[in-house]
Amino acid sequence: METLHILNHPLLQHKLSILRDKNTGVKEFREVVSEMAALECYEATRDLPLEDAVIETPITTGTFKVLSGKKLAIVPILRAGLGMVDGILDLIPSAKVGHIGLYRDPETHAPVEYYCKMPSDISERDVIVLDPMLATGGSASAAITFLKGYGCKSIKLMNILAAPEGVACIQKDHPDVHIYVAAVDEKLNDHAYIVPGLGDAGDRIFGTK
Ligand code: PRP
Ligand code: URA
Repeated sequence: METLHILNHPLLQHKLSILRDKNTGVKEFREVVSEMAALECYEATRDLPLEDAVIETPITTGTFKVLSGKKLAIVPILRAGLGMVDGILDLIPSAKVGHIGLYRDPETHAPVEYYCKMPSDISERDVIVLDPMLATGGSASAAITFLKGYGCKSIKLMNILAAPEGVACIQKDHPDVHIYVAAVDEKLNDHAYIVPGLGDAGDRIFGTK
């Protein structure tokens, strides 16, 4: 089963190039991350189940499709994942939002957890984990392991940009998790940054550098 979905729609490719440009300022960077999250959400939710509902239109009554079954939760990995939340809530306003705080140790690049708050019914929801960057994969893999510990069975991962190493990590640790991403770049550098990449997503979203 292919779990990697590279969403190479022209709009996503164009917007990703805006993010890559080092001259793109914080306002535009933030807006484009949010827009890309919404476009990716459209693809990542393609398999949401539908059911019939009877609806009265101004003209007549008919049977039409509405979303059915389990509801969604989105879980941004702090900080940078926060930049993807609003774009998704624009499309799915009823989604609940859990937060997991992880940062990469600057020496080892291993994820360190510092915050967690999930909706109480998280185990009954389809979960989409959000993080713009999938580099070594350590942060996303740890977040997914954590969510599985809560009993979540249906988990998807949505990123904007990935490295091959990160994709391989998730596919090894979590072969059941589908990954949605706009592009997979060439490699990681010695500091575990994606090359050619877009730099530090958190710093560019929040203007901290
Ligand atoms: C970045 C990014 C991911 C992680 C990816 O976060 O947002 O969470 O690195 O790297 P990995 O795949 O090697 O784990 P960072 O640790 O810089 O924290 P921040 O979001 O607070 O900037
Ligand atoms: N985190 C980022 O923000 N950028 C990278 O290239 C790798 C990890």
